[in-house]
Amino acid sequence: MLRGEKVFLRAFKREDLQRQWTFNNDIEMEVMGGGDPPEPQALERLEAEFDEQIRKGGRDGPNFAIEADGKYIGMCGLFHFDKVAHTCEMGIGIGDKAYWGHGYGRDAVRVLLDYAFRQRNLHKVWLRVNANNERAIRSYRACGFVEEGRLRKHVWSNGQYVDSVYMGILSDEWAAAQNTRSQGG
Ligand SMILES: CC(C)(COP(=O)(O)OP(=O)(O)OC[C@H]1O[C@@H](n2cnc3c(N)ncnc32)[C@H](O)[C@@H]1OP(=O)(O)O)[C@@H](O)C(=O)NCCC(=O)NCCS
Repeated sequence: MLRGEKVFLRAFKREDLQRQWTFNNDIEMEVMGGGDPPEPQALERLEAEFDEQIRKGGRDGPNFAIEADGKYIGMCGLFHFDKVAHTCEMGIGIGDKAYWGHGYGRDAVRVLLDYAFRQRNLHKVWLRVNANNERAIRSYRACGFVEEGRLRKHVWSNGQYVDSVYMGILSDEWAAAQNTRSQGG
């Protein structure tokens, strides 16, 4: 549906579930992703959730499978919409570690931001990231996110307390960055 330089963002397919299941049961991936403490998940549970959503009909919402080189490598999406302030939170998880640190994340985030500002007329997109997730923070910075604040030692992650960092990007900052990029800056 949405094409970047390296990735293609599209609807989920049932055949993606097998790879997502391996990602969901990978302890490193679960820890990096933040959120609830890691717990195992059966493939059948993932399939049942997917089938339930399909049964409901309608659309998938602003949730995208990330495809690269013809393979499903992870997911990204928008949530927690504030319909008055026109803001939302963003999340991303690339589960195939071969694709970490090679620009696939920033490409997917840029495509998602373009969708957020161009198609949904959002004013701001924000995110939360654990302060020790340096790869993610550097990737988000490259997309134009700036740190807006942090909750000190707020998250228990893998045996230690870490800061929860809040980052955001405004629509006019995104537009200015696109102008600079198109002028080769
Ligand atoms: C976070 C994530 C989307 C980033 O995508 P990515 O394709 O790996 O990242 P990019 O290649 O766009 O950027 C990586 C940046 O981190 C740097 N980096 C790479 N490996 C690193 C490492 N082990 N430690 C610190 N920095 C690292 C790169 O040099 C680059 O920074 P630079 O442009 O300033 O040089 C992806 O790694 C991922 O999904 N990880 C697992 C789950 C997760 O962390 N989700 C985010 C939760 S908030």
